[in-house]
Amino acid sequence: MSGYILEADGIEYRYPDGTWALKGVTCAVKEGKKVAFLGCNGAGKSTLFMHFNGLLQPQKGLVRFAGEKVTYDRHTLAELRRQVGLVFQDPDSQLFSANVWEEISFGPLNLGLTAEETRSRVQEVLHATGLWHLRDRPVHALSLGQKKLVTVADILAMRPVVLIADEPTAYLDPATASRIMDLLDRVNREGTTVVISTHDVDLAYAWADHIFMLDAGVVSCGGPPPQFFSDREMLEATGFPLPWVLEVSSHLKLTGQLRGETVPRTRGELINAIRHNGAVKGECTMERAIVILGHGSRASVGDANKVVMNIAEMVRTQLHVPILEVAFMNRKSGLQTLHEAIAKAVEAGAREVIVAPVFITKGQHLREDIPQEISAVQAAYGGRVQVKLASHLGEDPRLAQVVMDRIREAL
Ligand SMILES: Nc1ncnc2c1ncn2[C@@H]1O[C@H](COP(=O)(O)OP(=O)(O)O)[C@@H](O)[C@H]1O
Ligand SMILES: [Mg+2]
Repeated sequence: MSGYILEADGIEYRYPDGTWALKGVTCAVKEGKKVAFLGCNGAGKSTLFMHFNGLLQPQKGLVRFAGEKVTYDRHTLAELRRQVGLVFQDPDSQLFSANVWEEISFGPLNLGLTAEETRSRVQEVLHATGLWHLRDRPVHALSLGQKKLVTVADILAMRPVVLIADEPTAYLDPATASRIMDLLDRVNREGTTVVISTHDVDLAYAWADHIFMLDAGVVSCGGPPPQFFSDREMLEATGFPLPWVLEVSSHLKLTGQLRGETVPRTRGELINAIRHNGAVKGECTMERAIVILGHGSRASVGDANKVVMNIAEMVRTQLHVPILEVAFMNRKSGLQTLHEAIAKAVEAGAREVIVAPVFITKGQHLREDIPQEISAVQAAYGGRVQVKLASHLGEDPRLAQVVMDRIREAL
């Protein structure tokens, strides 16, 4: 098994008026991935997508679905269109029913599902797309963004293996565009391969696992976003700019203002990298962070605060490791505090979080559920982050040096 769900092999296509839209397109889409076809207007993106779900038949070359050559008999075509759902760029060329509910029911009914099965699928996608409140609205009375969501819902109701969306964000306001992209992300996380076309380099860079450049009817190159955008010559030749996040972060790296291995792909990731990497202040990166966990129920808050803050300051200045969170845990807030502190560290980009419990009250012991809880948190992040416990930091909080030594050991 090649792992490719869709393949184009030397596809050529001329429209009846003689326009040569595809001039030998060869590319392959891996199953389960998010793939973007980047190309100017008229590059052939829509024409290629119509080949992927059998609406157009290549005049030369062939399409493979799940490793099988697509043939154009009725049965194979019907099956292909069921498995490969195409969301059109212009919703008006896809929508034709009177109201939203009927519109979304059409596909499942056409697949031969019973009225009951259809009802449950329609309900499911209306909720997933946030369109439930519009279910009885006439389709023509919807805004463009709403229509776009209905076209995605239409396809989702068919439960395709591959969802192809032709310029899913074109003409949408930023909020609606990100709603659509969030929806496509969710669908992908649930196992569907998602393919989009776009001429927005920022969108392709932030979103896709793999990008193809479609240029004048030919796929001229393809690769994961960082490699794809490292080919400056190709970008120049095709007239596309660098994604702005990549341009700014490359500049900051070049000038020594941003360090570390992480390559931010979104505005949020870039801001986090700048805010936390500390390189600007001559410190180290945010990939590793310490959560200092004040631990005790009877100590006065003021004293506890002072002790823990002192330790935090020592760690910051002597070990040059950013302290992400100084959290206090008592019996009431319990493990919630620990969870929140780790979540903040991860959100800020930390890959390794060291939890350092500091006992405020003499004679206290590490809660036995903390090591277990730390393993559970780590499991919940699916291995994306390593959470370590700087073990047993001593009972006397004045022994800050001991605390330091233990943290040093954990590093
Ligand atoms: N129905 C059609 N008849 C004739 N030419 C067409 C038709 N649709 C698209 N084309 C032409 O085919 C080329 C590729 O178009 P298209 O696939 O729509 O590109 P894209 O989606 O990348 O903008 C363009 O030159 C376009 O003008
Ligand atoms: Mg198009």
